[in-house]
Amino acid sequence: MQVPTTPSYKLFSHPGDRSFKLQSTSKDITLRVPTIIETSILLDILENKENSKFDKSISDANTQELESIAHRWTTISHPLTHLNFLIWNGDTPIGIGGLGWIGPCDKTQPEGPRAGAAGVVLQPFARGKGFAYEALKMVFEYGLCGLGLAEVRIGSYSENIPMRMVMEKKFGLVTETIEGVVDEFGNDLLWVVRMDDLESF
Ligand SMILES: CC(C)(COP(=O)(O)OP(=O)(O)OC[C@H]1O[C@@H](n2cnc3c(N)ncnc32)[C@H](O)[C@@H]1OP(=O)(O)O)[C@@H](O)C(=O)NCCC(=O)NCCS
Repeated sequence: MQVPTTPSYKLFSHPGDRSFKLQSTSKDITLRVPTIIETSILLDILENKENSKFDKSISDANTQELESIAHRWTTISHPLTHLNFLIWNGDTPIGIGGLGWIGPCDKTQPEGPRAGAAGVVLQPFARGKGFAYEALKMVFEYGLCGLGLAEVRIGSYSENIPMRMVMEKKFGLVTETIEGVVDEFGNDLLWVVRMDDLESF
């Protein structure tokens, strides 16, 4: 098992604590669980069609459903079933990302090793600066090293070129897609990140 020699983030506290955050060690990026008063910031991001066009889980949702998604993002459960962050560049919220789902790798073995499903959405003004790569790297590392997950999965739609570029060009990952399988969010591509991958990021 290969834990990265240079951590991508500095960790403050733990999930559920108000001061919990991950601060990037190489870019001005901080990941924090949004508070309830930050729901309007989440909604701004979720309602922007430019952000949701490749993600059926939000593009097809009505305002009430988006409010419910945003509210869930402000919550922490024990054991963790999700861990979502607002992404900050200095004092500016620039996007959302994290683990929208955490659960058993194999549904038939609920007590077995756990996995997470990661995602990232950046506001258009914050794109093209490497922030998506950085935020995802922190999420992968925290999921695997901090939470002890066995793997982190990332699904995407094959026409989402920016996301493919992040995963294939910047992370250098090869898809583990199962031919012809499309998940409930319309994703036909799947990447899986494991502990041994971290050192090469
Ligand atoms: C996917 C997303 C997060 C990527 O953000 P980003 O800021 O462009 O990401 P990065 O800057 O870290 O890397 C993107 C890379 O892809 C390249 N790229 C982006 N769009 C491209 C395109 N249309 N064609 C070719 N390359 C492209 C960029 O040049 C960059 O590579 P570089 O740094 O070597 O130049 C952003 O586009 C987004 O929020 N999209 C909407 C939400 C979404 O689809 N999320 C993914 C679902 S989980």
